[in-house]
Amino acid sequence: MQTQQDVKLDQSLLDFIQLWKDKKGKEIMILHKVQEVYGYVPRAVAMEVSRLIDMPLAKIYGIITFYHLFKLTKPGRHRISVCLGTACYLKGGNDIIGELENILGIGVNAVTDDGSFSVEIVRCVGCCGLAPVLLVDGKAFGNLKKEDLPKILSEYSQTTQ
Ligand code: FES
Repeated sequence: MQTQQDVKLDQSLLDFIQLWKDKKGKEIMILHKVQEVYGYVPRAVAMEVSRLIDMPLAKIYGIITFYHLFKLTKPGRHRISVCLGTACYLKGGNDIIGELENILGIGVNAVTDDGSFSVEIVRCVGCCGLAPVLLVDGKAFGNLKKEDLPKILSEYSQTTQ
């Protein structure tokens, strides 16, 4: 019996659940898909997934909280992903995070007050030759210097409301 208000899931997510619901590892695959669709795992969606794959909600949340890559809060309109894989770490990835904190006033896994930006850490994004690298909404900026950040951010600030 459903104990929540009806949630209309994205059709691509419903199709994905249908494809995976009887397979091994379904919960991880489906949670990845949820995050791909919504940018995080909304509670209402987690509840609906729990119902559809007949898995206790507590188990779903156990997975979400165990794997740090799953997010429980809505990201900013623009997602900044700072690579801290080995190459980027060695070339100053942490300095990039520090400078973002100075400019935006938020740390890792936080969202600016106006909802424009969120900052997260990712591991190697596959372009180590360009280290240090950050992504904004999936677009890579490489050979990054702290001084480059204001210009990059201003491009995205202009696209917010
Ligand atoms: S370590 Fe950053 S792209 Fe590979």
